[in-house]
Amino acid sequence: MAPPRGRFATAAECLCIILVVQAGLAAAKKRPSSPATIEYLAPADTSVHERGLVSERVTYRSILTEHSRHWSNTSAKHFTRAVLGYVTPWNSKGYDIATKFASKFTHISPCWYQVKIGADGSTTLQGGHDVDQGWIKDVRSNGQPSPRIVPRLILEGSEGAMEGYEGAAMLEFKNMKKAIDLIVKECINQNFDGVTLEAWMGWSVAGVLSDAELRKKALMFAGALGDTLAKIKTKEGKLMQLVFVIPPPPVLDMPTKFGAADLALLAPHVHFFSLMTYDFSNPARPGPNAPLPWVSLCLNILIDSPPELQQMAKKLRKEVPPQRPSHERELKSVLTGNETNRDIADQVLAGINFFGNDFQLPRGGGPVVGHEYLHVLAEQRPKLIWDAESEEHYFEYTKGSSRHKVYYPTLKSIESRLSEIKRWGAGVSIWELGQGLDYFYDLL
Ligand SMILES: *[C@@H]1O[C@H](CO)[C@@H](O)[C@H](O)[C@H]1NC(C)=O
Ligand SMILES: *[C@@H]1O[C@H](CO)[C@@H](O)[C@H](O)[C@H]1NC(C)=O
Repeated sequence: MAPPRGRFATAAECLCIILVVQAGLAAAKKRPSSPATIEYLAPADTSVHERGLVSERVTYRSILTEHSRHWSNTSAKHFTRAVLGYVTPWNSKGYDIATKFASKFTHISPCWYQVKIGADGSTTLQGGHDVDQGWIKDVRSNGQPSPRIVPRLILEGSEGAMEGYEGAAMLEFKNMKKAIDLIVKECINQNFDGVTLEAWMGWSVAGVLSDAELRKKALMFAGALGDTLAKIKTKEGKLMQLVFVIPPPPVLDMPTKFGAADLALLAPHVHFFSLMTYDFSNPARPGPNAPLPWVSLCLNILIDSPPELQQMAKKLRKEVPPQRPSHERELKSVLTGNETNRDIADQVLAGINFFGNDFQLPRGGGPVVGHEYLHVLAEQRPKLIWDAESEEHYFEYTKGSSRHKVYYPTLKSIESRLSEIKRWGAGVSIWELGQGLDYFYDLL
């Protein structure tokens, strides 16, 4: 056997290394002319945690190399509360992610339906053509345990968007009942595990929420739908569930927002609330997508409701007494005296964005999804910066004459949010599965 060699065997080798290092430094100073390579490597046999990738210090190169290398054990779970994942028909990657990582999710919500409501109160359910029973079967059989399939229904006017939408007509008792019947029938026919209802924005645009009577009826509609679903069994013998989508809460009480009092009121009738804690910034006001202190404040307002909101909750409860709790588990009456919403925190699914934004400065630009982000990284080879205040990474680049600032989630930013959400005892909802990078799923 040859004796072990020293670190540098010969002077020639030494010189060689020095030359290589110098060449490297020169290259680093020059603007890169060709894009870096985006790797698509096979899954790894350790998690991103074990590989030390969940870090404030992250480079474009590690993202380009590692993004597809999730842990091969796709059934291991790190986040033990409810995890809902949205899937959209216009991004097929989400369907694949839901199937591959089915065990990580308690709920999968494909965005398939529009509830169309006309000025005369006529109600139709559209979008059934998007339903994919073969995929549902795969997701259910891959998940240990199976996630619940709760398609999203979005409330719209008869002409699309909110055109022709008449909130008052929809909220007449007989029309509410018709709408609920329609939804329930579809759940039974398609063997869904319930639905995710996104109505708040629709109600807001239709002026429902600024009218106290209509607002109350709108909450009753959600409650009645939840109560109805909670009595129906799926073919697998599970009771159906309602997930209700809510916007970020108001810092000060505003009737068009959904606050702690509303949460307390609806909690016995709705299984989960999908809280949209993202889109804090937008092209008109570039910045982090969901600054952690703001996410925390939203949870604080909803869960540790301040006393004045509790007073309002008590008043509301008198006006709209909840019916018998009809859920799988008994839900306690809430907000008597000076309690908080802490005992129902696990019904709140705090939103985490798996998309990012490529802003133009001072304003402009828009959302980017995973594969677009990887291309910008490859092209620009940027230095990623950790913003300690928002707990998000960003980078800047210049293209032509325009300056860009890009915020897109990283393992570290997601992990920060997950641990904050855990601290509040809440669950998670993700918008949306096809927009993230594969190795993000090791965190769930
Ligand atoms: C995957 O992880 C889970 C949870 O840690 C474990 O129970 C299971 O045995 C693992 N599966 C494989 C194939 O390693
Ligand atoms: C409200 O809080 C005060 C002070 O913490 C406590 O003494 C009182 O018992 C509480 N009341 C109720 C109804 O929980």
